[in-house]
Amino acid sequence: MTSTPIMTATEQPKYCYIVTGANSGIGLEATKQLASYLHLRNEKSVTIYMLCRSEERTRAAMATIGTPDILQFLKFDGSDSAETIQNHCVDKLPDGIKVEGILLNAGGFGDNKKQQKDKKQQSSSTTSNNSLSKDDVPVASSIAQANLIGHAILIDRLLKADKIDSSTRIVASGSEAAFASGVPMDFDKADFDGILQGTASLGGIPGVEYGWTKALLALYWAAFARHHPDLFVVTVSPGSVTTTNLLRQGGVNPFLRTVSKMAMFLGGSHQESVAAKRYIDALLGEERASQESGSFWASRKGYTKDYGDVSNLTICKFLKDVTLQEKAWNAVRKFVPL
Ligand SMILES: NC(=O)c1ccc[n+]([C@@H]2O[C@H](COP(=O)([O-])OP(=O)(O)OC[C@H]3O[C@@H](n4cnc5c(N)ncnc54)[C@H](OP(=O)(O)O)[C@@H]3O)[C@@H](O)[C@H]2O)c1
Repeated sequence: MTSTPIMTATEQPKYCYIVTGANSGIGLEATKQLASYLHLRNEKSVTIYMLCRSEERTRAAMATIGTPDILQFLKFDGSDSAETIQNHCVDKLPDGIKVEGILLNAGGFGDNKKQQKDKKQQSSSTTSNNSLSKDDVPVASSIAQANLIGHAILIDRLLKADKIDSSTRIVASGSEAAFASGVPMDFDKADFDGILQGTASLGGIPGVEYGWTKALLALYWAAFARHHPDLFVVTVSPGSVTTTNLLRQGGVNPFLRTVSKMAMFLGGSHQESVAAKRYIDALLGEERASQESGSFWASRKGYTKDYGDVSNLTICKFLKDVTLQEKAWNAVRKFVPL
């Protein structure tokens, strides 16, 4: 747990937290819990940056949080180019500000197929090569952009700008769908590049792309922890919550919504406050004694019970496989321009 000195009204904030997808659902609840925690500690030198797609929705969300003075909106979309993420987010942080924690919460099922197609067409029209974006990197699927690629770029750019260091706690949003969807997943044979580009054949089973994306996410952050042994990152699943906008996202068709609701009914669900506390405990280091960098914490029973490190579960042995971690690392890094 960190301790932040109190500043006078004329000073610039010296410390900050970053939350992506902070305008809705578990991200909003986590922002509320964080703001309340900082307020109770009278942490006036702190800003919470809410990195979201819509300023309007974020301003409305801010109005529901009791401490609007410590909140700031920055525009962030996981489908943005690295240059845009640099301009809109990284360059907007004041010089010398210390980033205490980053909650990479944005994500879900992505946009619907039509939007994906539009984005690919839009992207290919700006370049001479149809499979490359204007950054000369491949174009990721909407679901990969939302959960993983935008976040990988954000952390990469913050690192390059010296805005994060060994005391920054990075928390990525995982899901039990990475291992408990009931669909067999052959990690050795799987085409990680194709999964991230949305071109891999995944059998047409509803929701399976989400499970694969969250699995690759956990492998990527495990690899990141090995590549950056001085930094701290943990993947945390908030557990199943039915009251958020997750199942209303564009990438969820009526059939997938029904299947997901049934899975959540059978696997259990809990309140947004309980889900968000998992994030906050990890962000503030409440679990520091037991959470290792690179680990994946989730429900070990169903979708809400027995919260802990899942890497020792038989079904999760892929997480510790360094070859698979590197396979995910290499696949994701293709989308992160140098
Ligand atoms: N609910 C669950 O049962 C559950 C279980 C395990 C894991 N999770 C994970 O928890 C996280 C939060 O989900 P939630 O249930 O709170 O759903 P939610 O209410 O739909 O919140 C998702 C947030 O992510 C943002 N977002 C989506 N795509 C984005 C993109 N391309 N770029 C930037 N922001 C984007 C959304 O922004 P807009 O408001 O602009 O759409 C929204 O703020 C997700 O990563 C989800 O996968 C949820």
